[in-house]
Amino acid sequence: MCGIVGYTGKNPALPFLLEGLRTLEYRGYDSAGVELEAPSGSLTEVKCKGRVAALAALCEKLDATQTTGIAHTRWATHGEPSDANAHPHRDCSGRVAVVHNGIIENFQELVAELEERGHHFASETDSEVIAHLIEEALAGPAEGDFALAVSLATSRLEGSWAIACLSAASPGEILCCRKGSPLVLASTPDGAYAASDVTALAHTTSHVVNLGEGQIARLLPTGEVSVFEGDLTPVAEPDTFDIDWDASAATLGGYPDFMAKEIAEQPEAIERLLEGRLGQDGIVLDELRLSPEEVAAIDRIYVVACGTSWHVGLIAKTYFETWARIPTTVECASEFNYEEILTTDHTLCVIITQSGETADTLASARKMQAAGAKVIAITNVLGSSAARESDGVLYVQAGPEIAVASTKAYTAQLVAAALLALFLARANGAISLSEVRSRFREMQRAPELIRIVLSRAWQDEVAAQAFASAHSALFLGRGVSSTTAREGALKLKEISYLHAEAYPAGEMKHGPIALVEPGYPVVVVVPESHVRDKTISNLQEVNARGATTIALATNGDVRVAQLASHLLLVPPAPEWLSPVVDVVHLQLLARYVALARGCDVDKPRNLAKSVTVE
Ligand code: M6R
Repeated sequence: MCGIVGYTGKNPALPFLLEGLRTLEYRGYDSAGVELEAPSGSLTEVKCKGRVAALAALCEKLDATQTTGIAHTRWATHGEPSDANAHPHRDCSGRVAVVHNGIIENFQELVAELEERGHHFASETDSEVIAHLIEEALAGPAEGDFALAVSLATSRLEGSWAIACLSAASPGEILCCRKGSPLVLASTPDGAYAASDVTALAHTTSHVVNLGEGQIARLLPTGEVSVFEGDLTPVAEPDTFDIDWDASAATLGGYPDFMAKEIAEQPEAIERLLEGRLGQDGIVLDELRLSPEEVAAIDRIYVVACGTSWHVGLIAKTYFETWARIPTTVECASEFNYEEILTTDHTLCVIITQSGETADTLASARKMQAAGAKVIAITNVLGSSAARESDGVLYVQAGPEIAVASTKAYTAQLVAAALLALFLARANGAISLSEVRSRFREMQRAPELIRIVLSRAWQDEVAAQAFASAHSALFLGRGVSSTTAREGALKLKEISYLHAEAYPAGEMKHGPIALVEPGYPVVVVVPESHVRDKTISNLQEVNARGATTIALATNGDVRVAQLASHLLLVPPAPEWLSPVVDVVHLQLLARYVALARGCDVDKPRNLAKSVTVE
């Protein structure tokens, strides 16, 4: 959940490093730092608490001509956000510098051991031990061999890491390694690059090396990138892939913030995902890499995910059970990893992860694979760990999602889950080809329906006023809309810092209704559905207690219109598809509430886009 970048080559390193950090800032933004290396090996460090902009301001004072450097933007795990805890971290001699993304689980033992041998630590982080271990190895068994020192140092580590480091004794060289945290590299005529993810490299190259689990890479100013296994055996054919989106996809492009841009991009994202997906025999998902026999035999599904992606899973369960008739269990990955699992010989695990790097979700996939289940990943990030480690992958192709709050990936993942469900349903004969075609045609209407909701953003802007003096809010819905309510509450919490609780509408009377008092905002998701009338009763119950109700309802629903203080209108949609359409209003609502409260909608406090620690 930190971002790291490195460059060594012909050009001054600082501009790329700062720009790379800005691009990766969504991964963490409580402190930032940069280490530059001169051809003589002398190291210059600038780091501070705060965002990349604060670091960039400090760097203006530098006459930075160095052509080698590493940099970091941090999301604190060990040690509070502070200047001292900001990366890079150095060894005692100040001749080794390290940036790290991940967690070193055995750092306390290592610190104790190193302190006993006379090392002094300047920070409270787990990461600093890496610099001291490299220092010892360089002075001892590695005898000045930088790559060997990194190999020996990392062999002492437990946990997860993506590391880039410099040694004054090997000017111009950057050593990188990874285990459990992502790192991509690029070799270009201008030099060699390293970054936590491809967004930072998109304007330098379209061809990327994906550093493998446990591997080490050496980057040289000539642009050469050599990859080794952890024991320094050369890797003849490193894993490479092409970046399929251009750098402008990760820029604001005239929008005030990335969240606004990504909300607006949802129709195109879904259109892209659906292109070419309906074939003669049903849904085309060639990329799944499972045989027809394996697919047809699936008799149980576990869906495992975190956060917003977990909400996708809750709705996907309905699709898998209704269409494919396969019993489905949906679990939060962080809980699932410590629970008993009941697999059959034909269990499928579906992991859903925008980033493809969420540590808990990856751990769940590994647990399921170890239990003999096949794993399919629904993910947005090409070449991510989830994509590489799974037996099959379904890319949602939403394009880079930069805002921490997930929006376009959510709706694209919902559609991807629906495609997968139809694919499984056809493979096991649970539904007819004509039904698959009908559902697909309905899916194709999603972009047009979302565009209508987008054109009604003013309704959300007006409804946001209901939250002006609120301290808390309740979100209610039934059936698939109860998950839409959950997702709406999560969006509101994470970007506006307003407490929000989502509840199945019918359960409200068993406790949460006690919260309701005059003026208390209650969002009721009540589109046309088989449970609409029941939800209307719940709307009346909160009205009776003086709530300010914000009702998400279908065009022309006069009954709801008469009951609600504010209306968020959606066009008529099939019930199964309504979550894809309705959530867009709740994304817009959350954004307007957050803006009115003066919050940074793209980079909410305490959060990071991809949670690569357990
Ligand atoms: O990359 P993932 O989909 O695995 O991320 C899972 C969650 O961390 C993520 O959905 C988080 O809840 C978002 N910030 C929600 O907007």
